[in-house]
Amino acid sequence: MSVMLLLNGPNLGILGQREPEIYGTDTLADIEKAVAEEVSGRGWEVLSIQHDSEGDLVRAIHEHRLTSVGAVVNPGALMIAGWSLRDALASYPQPWVEVHLSNVWAREQFRHESVIAPLAGGVVVGLGAFGYRLGARALMHLTAADR
Ligand code: DQA
Repeated sequence: MSVMLLLNGPNLGILGQREPEIYGTDTLADIEKAVAEEVSGRGWEVLSIQHDSEGDLVRAIHEHRLTSVGAVVNPGALMIAGWSLRDALASYPQPWVEVHLSNVWAREQFRHESVIAPLAGGVVVGLGAFGYRLGARALMHLTAADR
């Protein structure tokens, strides 16, 4: 069975409790379930990995770079200056899509920068937890079978 990565960065492990007025009430477990449902028709399994530290995310990308078909990535605040995450994703050979729950463009100025977005196959922003489903659909579109 093919495995897709669902990567979430710092502070995303407490989704549901974390500033729900901004990030919604869905938990990471809810999101994992939704993404799994979305890709099940393609016969993909979801490997969900959340870390609060950048190095752990980098290691996870290295570990799964040759055994996964693609990734949906919410880098959290690492979007702003996560250069080693950016470099790990640059060496990731499969398509991947960046997702943000909130509309970062409508928020503070410091969130108006993503060092990973220029490398992404696409970016989904501001659609809440539903954005992860859209990211997964975009990833299926970007993978060879759909091209
Ligand atoms: C976020 C947006 C980031 O600016 C923030 O630091 C997060 C969550 C989002 O999903 O909206 O942690 O990536």
